[in-house]
Amino acid sequence: MNCFELHKDIDHVLITEEELDEANTRLAALIDQAQQGRDGQLVLLGVLKGSLVFLADLIRKLRTPIELDFVKASSYGASTVSTGQLKISLDYDRKEAENVDIIIIEDIIDSGNTLPKLVKHLKEKGFRSVRTCTLLDKPTRRMVDFQADYVGIVVPDEFVVGYGLDYDEKYRELPYIGVLKEEVYK
Ligand code: IMP
Ligand code: MG
Repeated sequence: MNCFELHKDIDHVLITEEELDEANTRLAALIDQAQQGRDGQLVLLGVLKGSLVFLADLIRKLRTPIELDFVKASSYGASTVSTGQLKISLDYDRKEAENVDIIIIEDIIDSGNTLPKLVKHLKEKGFRSVRTCTLLDKPTRRMVDFQADYVGIVVPDEFVVGYGLDYDEKYRELPYIGVLKEEVYK
């Protein structure tokens, strides 16, 4: 199986490479603007693994110097929101947290179960600020009231893959965001 063969599982392309590039340019400009005149260190914290491709493109458009790091987090037992626990398999710690601005980088916000808990967890470590940036947002699926600080593209309630996003660990290498054919997962 190679990348070319994966295309046959895609119903249609939802977001083209050009549109992804435009979204990244816009997000990088917003982040640069917000960091103007701020001292200290900006850390972009990618949520593994889905944010990887987005993060790689985004940082090459930034003018602000950054540090790059990763966390791995998911929520389990989250069928009801209140009982959903945050499970962190790779955490982030840094000295002199009070001079550090964090931006968590996500691939997509869906139910909103995970990200607010991760924000709270990092805020408790004493970082000066903890913001969130997501490439994609599916607001119609939200179970928890949560809005990211930076949103690339709002998408409809369809299962999307590519550009880092997977289904069963596949399709991450597709260069665009596509809607997966229903027959692949039903
Ligand atoms: P939630 O907002 O806590 O529901 O978690 C969002 C996570 O679910 C994302 O980081 C993705 O890993 C995954 N996810 C949600 N919707 C999709 C999709 O359409 N395609 C691929 N992964 C998705
Ligand atoms: Mg993810």
